[in-house]
Amino acid sequence: MTRQIIAFDNEQIHAGNKGLAIDHDAVTKRVDALLSTMTLAQKINQIRGLQPETIDGLYYAGEDNDLNIAPFKMVDGPRGARTGNATAFPVAIARAATFDVALERRVGMAIGREVAARGGNVLLAPTINLLRHPGWGRAQETYSEDTYHTGAMGVAFVSGTQNYVLASPKHLAVNNVEITRFDMSADISARVLHEVYLPHFKRCVIEGAAASIMSAYNKVNGVYCGENETLLTTILRDDWGFRGFVESDWFLGARSTAASLNAGMDIEMPTGFRFSDEKIQSAIENGELDEETISRAAARVLYQKIGWNLQAMAEDAPDTNVIECAAHLSLAREVAQKSMVLLKNENQVLPISAATTGAQSTDSAPPLSIAIVGHLANTINLGDRGSSMVTPTEAITPLAGILSHIEDHGYHCTVDFVENEFSCLEHYDMCIAVVGFTYREEGEFIPTQQVEAGNDGLARGGDRENLTLPDGQRAIIEAAIKHAKKTIVVLEGGSAVQVRDWIDKVDALLMAWYPGCRGGEAIADVLFGAINPSGKLPVTIPKHLDQLPPFDMASLNVEHGFLQGYRFLGNTEPEFPFGFGLSYTRFTLDGLYLRRHDHGFQITVDVTNIGDVAGAAVPQIYLSNGNSAILRANITMKGFGRVNLEPGESASVIFEVTDETLAYYDEASASWRMESCEYTFSCGFDSATMLLGASWRYDKNTTATNAEGVWQPV
Ligand code: BGC
Repeated sequence: MTRQIIAFDNEQIHAGNKGLAIDHDAVTKRVDALLSTMTLAQKINQIRGLQPETIDGLYYAGEDNDLNIAPFKMVDGPRGARTGNATAFPVAIARAATFDVALERRVGMAIGREVAARGGNVLLAPTINLLRHPGWGRAQETYSEDTYHTGAMGVAFVSGTQNYVLASPKHLAVNNVEITRFDMSADISARVLHEVYLPHFKRCVIEGAAASIMSAYNKVNGVYCGENETLLTTILRDDWGFRGFVESDWFLGARSTAASLNAGMDIEMPTGFRFSDEKIQSAIENGELDEETISRAAARVLYQKIGWNLQAMAEDAPDTNVIECAAHLSLAREVAQKSMVLLKNENQVLPISAATTGAQSTDSAPPLSIAIVGHLANTINLGDRGSSMVTPTEAITPLAGILSHIEDHGYHCTVDFVENEFSCLEHYDMCIAVVGFTYREEGEFIPTQQVEAGNDGLARGGDRENLTLPDGQRAIIEAAIKHAKKTIVVLEGGSAVQVRDWIDKVDALLMAWYPGCRGGEAIADVLFGAINPSGKLPVTIPKHLDQLPPFDMASLNVEHGFLQGYRFLGNTEPEFPFGFGLSYTRFTLDGLYLRRHDHGFQITVDVTNIGDVAGAAVPQIYLSNGNSAILRANITMKGFGRVNLEPGESASVIFEVTDETLAYYDEASASWRMESCEYTFSCGFDSATMLLGASWRYDKNTTATNAEGVWQPV
């Protein structure tokens, strides 16, 4: 029988998530009992951070020795624990390119374990703001331009993390411009908000039982997220049933005392600027705030503290020897290997295989000569230096990774690092150019760091105005193109890079992202074929900027339309589509089978490896709606799976699509509705090419006996 793979295995992904195991009634009783003994001052103490600075890398909130209440000890972040040394994993957008939810769960577990070992109990991650435009400075911290994909990866991370510590998905909501993040308003219709920018948060809350949510700095429709009752109460609590606490983003996340608390903010971080005793007292006295509201916030904090049993967590915390342990470092390497996206491979120039390098040959052929260019080849380049920065004890550069790979495999091959005077490249068999971005050109925007970086005229972090490589980096590629016999480009960066100027003139292009502390080894593994590349783009690489929504970095009012990413393309062709990535083998897709059940559809497809080497394929499911009367995207992702196959091997991949995810948000009735129209489910290996499809029609009027309407195969 053909092997069957469940694309998103709920049981496996959510295993061990302690947030899902909280005994609600029992914990609520204990919270009520404790709260009834507390003074107002003690309650206020629960709802703010202790001080602006960290203690051993941890932000404290709500310690009370008299009442024996342990504090939250919060720590960033999305690519590893930001305290002391820690395993630096590839950035989230790199991990997103693995399209591997089980792997992302393991990363969440490893980061959670290291946080716990450092004494932390809340991880300020994952970042799950949708990548509306790839120029966003923090693109690297998030997963993708697609709502479904971001939700699947995000909830897998949350469930992994919550095997050890509380997770805090961030930043609610629509936080996707960096330079103006403290002031801009994301102007957005209810439909776009509910269908595009929130479903991934909803998944983390409902399926992942995320213990906390961080609110965003920006405004949504003119109201600061930290004071936004629609977001923090109506949607988060009333619609989704969130039982955790909301903490503000740091320093400027809570803009006010009464308005923030009344809207549903529970904790001000990193300290009580607006949630001070004095400000709260005076807001109560002048009638802007009820004591009840303070009790409500304190109760939400205590619910998670008691539900998780912070004292017991501290006692059971893993030993510090798990930090950067062999298992975590090898996980970092595995993730980096699986995240590399091979975008071009003319005449199979890659892999630089054993045959090419004569590793097994005994004759006296001259060694294969490789020139490596680009200072990034010899640079540790782990991503931005904002709140997601991680400091590993050691990190392996691409150059070091390639040199040790060649030595370990005994390849008949020479490697020279050519720093300038590129005319000598003509004497080498091939040239590997390592180019891209660093923390200077993209990342979180931290005004104080901008000042600090001012001297050399380079900004730290922030948004990217255009998506092409910096001039110096392009010059390196141009020199390689001019002189080298073959040019292989390895690209580092945290988002889409426009490559139109030079892509036709290079032989191969490998997107390596910011690949983490073992990235150099992973790059070598892929270039030399020890690993078959399997990463897929979580972001469209456009040919032209007009294939993207407008990105006005200075605007304080940014209109958020229904379409972004591959959905924005219409019928135009991007440089490389969302979901795309080459392999050293080839796969086919057969027999899409669409079965209706009570509350949705099950889709099965068969994938076969028809090449000569083992590899991983990522079949992707997209929905399109025929005869729809409302605005729809051409296609919208509804599932993806990842399957490893030996040469000649086949497997069936099974996807579940629930009716809930097929509904649209009707603004007039403020509710989810199923439209009477055709629902076509297509499958392909990227978003541009649908290889198989099948349709059902939904009609709510066909059978009067069924008020819910009926589904019929087309
Ligand atoms: C960032 C958050 C981060 C927090 C604490 C803020 O500036 O936006 O993502 O968790 O700082 O470091």
